[in-house]
Order: sequence, then structure tokens, then C-alpha cells
Amino acid sequence: MTTEGRPRTIPELIAMKAAGRRIVMLTCYDALFARLLDATPVDILLVGDSVNQGPAGLDTTLSATLDQMIYHAASVRRGTSALMIVDLPFLTYQISIEDAIRNAGRVMQETGANGVKLEGGLPMAATVRALVDRGIPVMGHLGLTPQSVNTLGGYRVQGRDAAAADRLVADAAALEEAGAFAVVLELTPTALSARVTGALTVPTIGIGAGASCDGQVLVLHDMLGMNESFKPKFLKRYGDVGANVRAAATAFADEVRTGRYPDSAHSFE
Ligand code: KIV
Repeated sequence: MTTEGRPRTIPELIAMKAAGRRIVMLTCYDALFARLLDATPVDILLVGDSVNQGPAGLDTTLSATLDQMIYHAASVRRGTSALMIVDLPFLTYQISIEDAIRNAGRVMQETGANGVKLEGGLPMAATVRALVDRGIPVMGHLGLTPQSVNTLGGYRVQGRDAAAADRLVADAAALEEAGAFAVVLELTPTALSARVTGALTVPTIGIGAGASCDGQVLVLHDMLGMNESFKPKFLKRYGDVGANVRAAATAFADEVRTGRYPDSAHSFE
């Protein structure tokens, strides 16, 4: 642990669960935000493929590429020494285990990541095991898995019926058994999240998964109030950056048009 109590390693992160310490994760896609977050008690920066949705303005994560994720992750690493986990984008790990090792290996080598995240349970267990055995820590992701939005039929709560809930618990157990160091639970009912959290020795990190998870993650731009039309029930806004940006740009436009900017203090003699 650092003196601020932030985990420096994956084993330290796992130990937070047994110590009853809640894990805090935020997404991050660039060096400037990484530098700001580096000065906060956030434990993990996740370079999520959600970069495709907020910042890139697309509807899904499906078209995110490995090169794009590497570009963003390398930028984030320049701004932080915190644990950084990078999403493996769609089709960079599902086709073959060999592909998964090569692509996850590139992420580790080219970005300084501490691990990768991938979506799916039992069907991905052999891939997770292969990555972990080769020294690549893996965070799992269950519940609403955005790369499967077309098979799931939309962004909605998962595991509501008994059979789906049982499947999710089995998926989580398979990920832990395969060596995953943590599991993200997205859009799962609180009782199911509690069941999974109780069944695993590695931490669960929830988004829209209730308070029983071992940690919580939010998408930075959403919690800062920059993605103003996105209003899911679980999202709490901790900032109003959207309003600040509008106010600053309006003030700039006003000063330029009225000749108040640049004044002598902002000009060269
Ligand atoms: O891509 C992402 O930002 C994520 C989080 C929503 C967990 O996977």
C-alpha cells in the first residue's frame, strides 16, 4: 500500500476485500484526467472501451480497436502511478487463446498496464487461465456485458430470474477458479450482487449493482456531469463539468466579442 493507502499491486488490491476496505475505480482515457485523479484516493483507473461511447460519441463499444485502447492507456499511464487496468476490446480475445495472449501482451508491454479486463464467464475461463498463467492479471466482467449488447437486446438489468442468477454465480466462480483477480458486476440486482460477492474470495466491483459489492466503479465523464443526456438510475453525478464548460466558453466568446480578451496582461509588449 502507498502511504495514502492506495494499493500498488494486484495482491494488495485483492487483500482489500479481506480487510473490509471498499475499492474505488473510475474510468480514465487521457493523461490530464489521470494526473487529476492521481491526486485523489481512487484505487484503480480503468481505461474502458466505454471511451467509444462518451468521448468518441458512438452508441456501442463494439468498434473500439486494440490500437485505440493502447493509445488511451499509454496516455493515462503518463499521468498516474495508480493501478491501471485496460479493457480488451471486442474480438481481440474471443477468437482464440493465442490471439488473447498476443493482444493482452501488447497492452501490457506498450502501456504499462497492471492488468486487462475482459467480458464473459464460463466460456472465457480457459482464456483467463491462459493469460494469468503467462503473467497477465485479468479482471472479469459479468452481468450487462456491453460487448454483447446485441445478444442481450439492450442495456438492461441482468440476472433477474432464478436461472439467469444461478448462471451468473457459476460464471463468477469460474472466473475466480481461472485466476481472475476481481470481477466487475454491471447492472445486476442488489441481492444477486450480494450472493456473488459472498461466494468469491476476490473482490467484486459494481456499476449499477447495488451496495453489497466490494467496490464501485463509474464512468468518469458520466459522474462528472459531462454526458448530460445519459441518466440511468444508478448514476450519481458528483460534478457539473458540463455547466462549467458552457459557462467558460460563453464567457470567452463574450470577452472576445466585446474586446476584453486579450487584455495587456495576456499580450506580449
Ligand atoms: O468500459 C467501461 O467503462 C467499463 C465500465 C463500465 C466497468 O467496462
